Amino acid sequence: MQLEHANGMATMDRVTASIAHEVTQPLGASSQEQSADEFFEQREAISKVLWAIANSPHELQPIFDTIIDSATRVSPSQSGSLRLCEEEGLRLVAWKGDPDVLIGPPPTLLRYENQIYGPLFVDKSPFQIPDLAVHKAYLRRSDAYIVDLVELRGLRTLLLAPMLKDDQVIGVITIARSQVQPFTDKQIGLFMDFASQATIALESTRRERQYRQMQVELAHANRIATIGQLTASIAHEIKQPLAAIAISGDAGLRWLSSEAPDVEKAKQSIARIVADAHRAADIMDRLRGLAKKQAPQKELLDLNAAILEVTALTQGEAVKNGVTIRTQLASDLPRIHGDRVQLQQVMLNLIVNAIQAMSSLGDSQRNLEVSAETDTQDGVSVGVRDTGPGLRPENFSRLFEPFNTTKLDGMGIGLSICRAIIDDHGGRLWASGNEPRGAVFQFTLPIKVT
Ligand SMILES: Nc1ncnc2c1ncn2[C@@H]1O[C@H](COP(=O)(O)OP(=O)(O)OP(=O)(O)O)[C@@H](O)[C@H]1O
Ligand SMILES: [Mg+2]
Repeated sequence: MQLEHANGMATMDRVTASIAHEVTQPLGASSQEQSADEFFEQREAISKVLWAIANSPHELQPIFDTIIDSATRVSPSQSGSLRLCEEEGLRLVAWKGDPDVLIGPPPTLLRYENQIYGPLFVDKSPFQIPDLAVHKAYLRRSDAYIVDLVELRGLRTLLLAPMLKDDQVIGVITIARSQVQPFTDKQIGLFMDFASQATIALESTRRERQYRQMQVELAHANRIATIGQLTASIAHEIKQPLAAIAISGDAGLRWLSSEAPDVEKAKQSIARIVADAHRAADIMDRLRGLAKKQAPQKELLDLNAAILEVTALTQGEAVKNGVTIRTQLASDLPRIHGDRVQLQQVMLNLIVNAIQAMSSLGDSQRNLEVSAETDTQDGVSVGVRDTGPGLRPENFSRLFEPFNTTKLDGMGIGLSICRAIIDDHGGRLWASGNEPRGAVFQFTLPIKVT
């Protein structure tokens, strides 16, 4: 839920922090003799992985590919593969073949019992097979996979390292040489350290992604729930143009079927039909846009237009509750870089909250004002002001906390999602009292000139 690249950079910062400790500490017995060149080579290898993480906030594949590419450089080797543990076996997620041996990828799924990887799950430490061609499984031809490695892929020396998380093997990185050329202890040490750093980087990225995915799911659920609350009034909004279409259609038919058909008048009726059909279609489009579940997408957008779409959708609900919506949108508002659906979700939550707050009032005026203006300090500033009961001081601190609600049918997550969205856009969202009564919710968004 952040600017794509900034998002990646933030992820990278967190991942970097979690592995910084690893990289800067002495790296075990083998690494104590590490030369400066090797040390920098290893750092570069892990930096490449971090860089891939920063550049692919939504995809893991480039990270897998970079891990394999870097692994084959850290301990020079022609080919390599990365497999992750799944219920059915070890799934291939990235591989690099010897450029001199043109052959397709190795098997996608390897059973845990296979004779090469099996020992890793017992010892949970790296090991090498100095020459596959003298491995007993090859000599006895008891494992088709090993025969394939030697005869089709021309691999001889293999080095395998488990990816460990809480002492559980979650994957295996393998590198291989096309000649019988065993890896030295130093190379094994470097490879081992790289594998453990890559595991931390990968795991942190996966967690980060899961968390972001959960946020997207929650935001979507909240959007659907809010739209659900508006169903009756939106259905009413759609019925209006449909009824008008029927009336114009009747009128058009009458103009054409009279003894002296009035084509001009009939044309006007048809023009009204077209305009009303567009009105109904617009409402459906806006609804579909908000109901869609999609990964956050940042674009340069016209915030005023995005706000007007939301006020149009909530107009029916406002009328139903005796609320008058007024907009004050600066005509020269600069475009901002943001996710249209997410920012509309913020507006929708704030407007629906304000309408709901005012619906509990007696006969007093129910006014809702939505404003957008340029803010010299922060970029763009948007405000939603109501004349409802206002915010109780004791609720102020908990307002943006999830599951805090005073409504019978509220989930209490609207404002916490709004704040997460605005934070992710690099802005601020806060609440205060309105004068002479009611509440004001304001947020700012930075302008990103691209
Ligand atoms: N404009 C407002 N005026 C007065 N109180 C408000 C206003 N906006 C929000 N609140 C208070 O803040 C609480 C939290 O709002 P939030 O939008 O997070 O959840 P909700 O509206 O209760 O439920 P939902 O998850 O469906 O949005 C509300 O229950 C209400 O008590
Ligand atoms: Mg709400």
